[in-house]
Amino acid sequence: MAIAAYIAFEPADEEAALSIGAELERNGWSVTRSAPELRTQEKLAALVQTIGGTQVVIVIASPAAEQSTWLQREVAAALNNGRPVIVVLAGALPADSWIHATLDTASAVDFQGGARSEVLAQIADRARAANGRGRVIAMLNIKGGVGKTVLAANLFAAAHLADKRSISFIDLDPQHNLTQYFLSPGERNRIRDRNHTIYGILNPHGEASVPISDIAGVAVPLNRARRGDGKQPNFELIAGDERLFEFTLDTRSDRDKAEAFTRFRALVTALRARSDAVVIDSNPCATFLTRLAITTADHIVAPVRPEKYSLTGLNMLEQVVREVRGRALRPSEFSVLLNGVNDRTRSGETGDADALTRDEISGAPFFSTALLADEVPYSAVLKSAPSDRLAANPINVTAMMRVGGRPAKEALTQAAAAILRRAGQ
Ligand SMILES: Nc1ncnc2c1ncn2[C@@H]1O[C@H](COP(=O)(O)OP(=O)(O)OP(=O)(O)O)[C@@H](O)[C@H]1O
Ligand SMILES: [Mg+2]
Repeated sequence: MAIAAYIAFEPADEEAALSIGAELERNGWSVTRSAPELRTQEKLAALVQTIGGTQVVIVIASPAAEQSTWLQREVAAALNNGRPVIVVLAGALPADSWIHATLDTASAVDFQGGARSEVLAQIADRARAANGRGRVIAMLNIKGGVGKTVLAANLFAAAHLADKRSISFIDLDPQHNLTQYFLSPGERNRIRDRNHTIYGILNPHGEASVPISDIAGVAVPLNRARRGDGKQPNFELIAGDERLFEFTLDTRSDRDKAEAFTRFRALVTALRARSDAVVIDSNPCATFLTRLAITTADHIVAPVRPEKYSLTGLNMLEQVVREVRGRALRPSEFSVLLNGVNDRTRSGETGDADALTRDEISGAPFFSTALLADEVPYSAVLKSAPSDRLAANPINVTAMMRVGGRPAKEALTQAAAAILRRAGQ
């Protein structure tokens, strides 16, 4: 299937849009351009759907674009759907342009000299690079305690060890359990004292702010205890921070949040350029932080426990994601992972909770095709606090996997491979 690109432009820039589209088509892309047919109030949902279904959005920025509310809507759809945006500058913008404030114009392709072949080739290269990057996977469920954190760590440790996948984790939960899972208290304090955490990255100003040019360098390597020859795939963490709660309350202004959003996107762009998967662990509710995860994710993994009301949590998650993205969702954008099956410690329940939950989800309209065939068993290894297991060497992932029981390890490896396949990686 051809890879899809959307070109957002104003009629004044039609010539540029046509030449860029033709170049992409020559390179095997299927191209949709802004058109009056979709730029109507009644077709807004279809427009967002089209943009959400593409791999790359190209925005032609110019004085005409600056004035256009439709172009602004197309850009919002691209950002809310986590589509990579390539800015092509076809004319000078005022310094206070909304385009500067919303998009990364510093790395825009300069089209002011017209459709020269080297400029067109540069756009095609950028589009190819944007599409060839790692996938962003968000662990999400509005319901708490379902295994988002423990599975984020163990699924992708398995993918790293068994399949040599390079992984970048982002701990986006103020409770920062993922960070506690991987790092010792001493290490966490050291990192926090330097503000080398997600809080430092989101924070646009003040002492605790990390300069935007440094954000990708804040990642902590988790596999450095292994022999490093510089060639092994990376396995790294953007550490969490309890001060992140400020972004879930009303203590931060809308302007701070807008800047935090831009900084978060820059972080994700940098990490996906160097990893097969960027894995976001989020908090179990719908807050500004959830919005950051949803808008940047290519794929959402929702772990569920075999218990009553699992489907209620999933339905709510689907609603929240649909609201944030402004469009109907495809089940292929989700993976539902049944976690904690064959739990012999479970008591006092009537009926087979595993089968009941499995049947309920596979009978549900949206989630039936999102439910993974691979399931994660209940396992004492996943139950135990990592500090007990990793005390000897908290950052040695190999040690973490070695102590894992064999059935859990195999299930995790297979489930991780299935998720990465569904995410298009
Ligand atoms: N397959 C499993 N077998 C045994 N215990 C498990 C399994 N999966 C998760 N657990 C345990 O269940 C608890 C909740 O898991 P976890 O913290 O990963 O959930 P969460 O969804 O991230 O929670 P929160 O919503 O609070 O962030 C933890 O104690 C974890 O060790
Ligand atoms: Mg968690």
